[in-house]
Amino acid sequence: VTSAGPVLRTDRLVLRPWRESDREPHAAMNADPEVMEFFPSVMDRAASDAWFDRMQHGWDEYGFGLLAVEDSRGFVGFVGLAVPRFELPFSHLADPPVEIGWRLVRRAWGRGLATEGATACVDWAFGDLRLPEVLSWTAEVNVRSRAVMERIGMHHDPDDEFDHPKLTDESPVRRHVVYRLLAGERPAVSDRAGTLGS
Ligand SMILES: CC(C)(COP(=O)(O)OP(=O)(O)OC[C@H]1O[C@@H](n2cnc3c(N)ncnc32)[C@H](O)[C@@H]1OP(=O)(O)O)[C@@H](O)C(=O)NCCC(=O)NCCS
Repeated sequence: VTSAGPVLRTDRLVLRPWRESDREPHAAMNADPEVMEFFPSVMDRAASDAWFDRMQHGWDEYGFGLLAVEDSRGFVGFVGLAVPRFELPFSHLADPPVEIGWRLVRRAWGRGLATEGATACVDWAFGDLRLPEVLSWTAEVNVRSRAVMERIGMHHDPDDEFDHPKLTDESPVRRHVVYRLLAGERPAVSDRAGTLGS
């Protein structure tokens, strides 16, 4: 595991570089059908480990990526930035295009933790990394994830909807929506008080 990446602290979370010891709780999260409801399938340990390795290579290639997230009880999932491994069927400003994304273990839902972690990553993206834009996409039916996108100030244009190129016509989660946030649209920290669980 590359120990690359910043340590981002929020009121309730630490977002940090990955450790080998994260593989196991990460795989358990990816094996949970509720967590993976809007993905084509759950992942077994081998698939989860392969994903883990690809994610590390992304860090080596781009110098940013997904961060492991902990609360006071330990691993709760990941939040961070990723570069898609398929060609985007919509316009984007950054080269490479950068997605903000999240996945949390079930026990961590419903507490504002995804929004809290994502807000820290927006600050990282537009602060240290100086990215012009972050994108996010999800299955149209993934209401919880779309709500996080909206809570962090992202907006979506219905014209940006697309069919995920890695999914087949039969997939009920093929239709995807795109949300965007430009660097200049980042809400001032003072305006965000109260949305961060503080
Ligand atoms: C998407 C996901 C990360 C969203 O998690 P979440 O906990 O619903 O999101 P938030 O952190 O924004 O929390 C919001 C909820 O916490 C509640 N909440 C409780 N305390 C809060 C606090 N102090 N501050 C803010 N919200 C709080 C909110 O009212 C809201 O509740 P609701 O679900 O009843 O509306 C989670 O459902 C998940 O991991 N899903 C599976 C993976 C996935 O689909 N990832 C996205 C793929 S693109």
